[in-house]
Amino acid sequence: MDSEKVFPILKQDLDFEIRAINLYYENLFSIGDSKTRSTLLRILIDSLRHALTIANIISSINSDLKIQDEIPREKLIAVLNRGLKEEMESEEIYQEHMKLIVDPEVIKKIRPIFGDEILHEKLVKDLLNKLK
Ligand SMILES: [Fe+2]
Repeated sequence: MDSEKVFPILKQDLDFEIRAINLYYENLFSIGDSKTRSTLLRILIDSLRHALTIANIISSINSDLKIQDEIPREKLIAVLNRGLKEEMESEEIYQEHMKLIVDPEVIKKIRPIFGDEILHEKLVKDLLNKLK
């Protein structure tokens, strides 16, 4: 099957995954039951992975065929700059909050999140540097 025929099929799959991602993401933190929330988070993460795989296949099959609504370079840089600001703020906030929270069990759970925020900042910076 040639790429012109494969593209709309994969695009449909990507749209399907994106719809699922939006549905679960929009509602996840309004769900009161923690087990339901965790199960939907698992499905959300899987859907993100699926969407990424499909988007990567689309990108690799033919350079003439683009993912619909692909954002221009300038907008991507703006998104990453905003992301960088958010990551740096998250880092500061978690650091501050770990000083305020006394319960060691809570701190034990929050510290890895703080570590992730440091990593996120580095990853976003690396992406920005590649675009410069
Ligand atoms: Fe982050």
